[in-house]
Amino acid sequence: MVIRRAVVTGASSGIGEATVRVLRAQGWEVVGVARRPKRLARLAAETGASTIACDLTDPDAVAALVAELERTGPVHALVQVAGGARGTDSVEQGSIDDWQWMYDANVLTTQRLVAGLLPLLRRAAAADGHADTVFVTSTAAQSAYPGGGGYNAAKAAESMLVKVLRQELHGEPIRVVEVAPGMVHTEEFALNRLGGDVAAAESVYDGVAEPLIADDVAELIAYALNAPRRVNLDLVTMRPLAQAAQHLLARGTLHVRTDD
Ligand SMILES: NC(=O)c1ccc[n+]([C@@H]2O[C@H](COP(=O)([O-])OP(=O)(O)OC[C@H]3O[C@@H](n4cnc5c(N)ncnc54)[C@H](OP(=O)(O)O)[C@@H]3O)[C@@H](O)[C@H]2O)c1
Repeated sequence: MVIRRAVVTGASSGIGEATVRVLRAQGWEVVGVARRPKRLARLAAETGASTIACDLTDPDAVAALVAELERTGPVHALVQVAGGARGTDSVEQGSIDDWQWMYDANVLTTQRLVAGLLPLLRRAAAADGHADTVFVTSTAAQSAYPGGGGYNAAKAAESMLVKVLRQELHGEPIRVVEVAPGMVHTEEFALNRLGGDVAAAESVYDGVAEPLIADDVAELIAYALNAPRRVNLDLVTMRPLAQAAQHLLARGTLHVRTDD
């Protein structure tokens, strides 16, 4: 049996880290990628994954990453999780620096990875039957909300890029899967978005009965990768039960409505 090897970005925290753990537990070979080497080293020790520290916004670093991956084995799957949000400014007062970072970290990074890794994915697909790509976008790609401008725009652009890629790869045995989560309570996402303000970050989840956790998304990604190869999950939107829509978030215990 072929042991499949996945490259998982965003591996130093949250959804990416959880995905590394789930795939390793299922017997995948995994290469975890993020910038912070200490966190990667800990993950490697705990899971047996390999790791490569790389700033995905740096084209030279991505070229070196691709060369290292090519040198060390096949790539059957790319799971692109790295990215995130900065700020909640209005469009009128949007910080160009933050918006530029979000476009780079979510959109251009995805393009760079696809361009670099597609030759390796094709090689693995030719040798072993098929290859996979999974991209974590967001429900922010689907609905606008006040203060979401920069992130809405970046995630919508990333989502479009994924849809284009699926059509461009039509006829090849390479799946293109998009996973769009709603609110996921991860360690750092809100903290990074809100400039490191711990209280503000925690208040995002205040009273929400069970936001998604990173494992929920990781399990879905693993399902997409392990599904029979004829099955392509084009787009899976996953929200917590408490979030019926971007703007409809129930805080407090969920309860059954009764007439009395
Ligand atoms: N949490 C949510 O509510 C939520 C909802 C929908 C979608 N998402 C999306 O899901 C993805 C993961 O979110 P999360 O909650 O797991 O966030 P997170 O905990 O902040 O993780 C983000 C990951 O991306 C990596 N990363 C950021 N910039 C990078 C760069 N320039 N080069 C390499 N790696 C980089 C970070 O690692 P280093 O800092 O070590 O580089 C980290 O591992 C993001 O794309 C996010 O937009 C999150």
